[in-house]
Amino acid sequence: MTVDLRSDTLTRPTDAMRKAMAEAAVGDDVYGEDPTVIELQQRVAGMFGKEDALFTPTGSMANLLAVGSLVEPGQEVLCEASAHIARAELGAHGAVGGLTMRTWREPRGQVDLEAIRSMFAPDMGPFFVRTAAVSVENTHNFAGGAVLPVADLEQLRAYATGMGIGVHLDGARIWNAHVATGVPFAAYGACAVVVSVCLSKGLGAPVGSLVVGSAEAVAAARVRRKRMGGGMRQVGILAAAGLHALDHHVERLADDHAHARLLAEACGLDPATVDTNIVVVPRDDAAAFVAGAREGGVLVAPVGPTTVRLVTHLDVSRQDAEAAAAVLARL
Ligand SMILES: Cc1ncc(COP(=O)(O)O)c(C=O)c1O
Repeated sequence: MTVDLRSDTLTRPTDAMRKAMAEAAVGDDVYGEDPTVIELQQRVAGMFGKEDALFTPTGSMANLLAVGSLVEPGQEVLCEASAHIARAELGAHGAVGGLTMRTWREPRGQVDLEAIRSMFAPDMGPFFVRTAAVSVENTHNFAGGAVLPVADLEQLRAYATGMGIGVHLDGARIWNAHVATGVPFAAYGACAVVVSVCLSKGLGAPVGSLVVGSAEAVAAARVRRKRMGGGMRQVGILAAAGLHALDHHVERLADDHAHARLLAEACGLDPATVDTNIVVVPRDDAAAFVAGAREGGVLVAPVGPTTVRLVTHLDVSRQDAEAAAAVLARL
């Protein structure tokens, strides 16, 4: 037995998803002629109450295009200190986007409006870097899949609008937030000027993300995507996987969340602290814990010297979760 809990990006396409991919109608998407890509983009835009969407190969590219639609080179974005855009995109927003970042720290990745207010920098001509946007992540990966309450996001959007700045939502796992809370996608969409979403995490598609926003922002993102070498051709084959995932893999995320709570309990944590499909386990002996789990056939990932992350997903059944819980409980 091997149960792989390292990440929800490890899923393999199901037979039904592969069939949908094989049968997809395709065309050249750089010419705007791939009907399956167009269907996916329109569907996701509609779900979030936005005018348009753009298919991208990765969440990192979607984030880069989305944040870049709000923040010009030489301006700054504010985000939480362990946000994926700050920690895990290899400095792309600075290196490629030419912007700077300042962060607030909140252990569960939440919005801290007081901190944001205190950091906000208006346009002061040639003296200070101007704040152009705030970026939030829902669910928050490194904060253990924590959900950001929609009321906090609404407050943030109202504040940001008042200050004349944008809000970006990194919604790589917004599907998990929706299933955990019942908050409609459109309500999350209304909290941000631009949203990025991923099909290749909990939804189980092999690849694919989208930037979702106004027609103007998406048109500009399409040009920048091509400039970065991200113009793709008969990519409906991949968009079909995303459409299939939206039809079949959203509601089942509730199972992943239940499995995550089971694993948390096995690790001696309060399952009520687990919002979605990610469990962060504090262990002084993280490396030994990872090695011990591996011996028992359970793969888990160290995310720091004293923290281990467990992630449930489409390829972890109830039986797998129970077997993994038994191994982890012994550790
Ligand atoms: C919250 C979040 N945003 C963005 C990304 C980037 O996605 P990708 O790996 O497709 O570039 C990830 C990847 O895990 C993520 O967890």
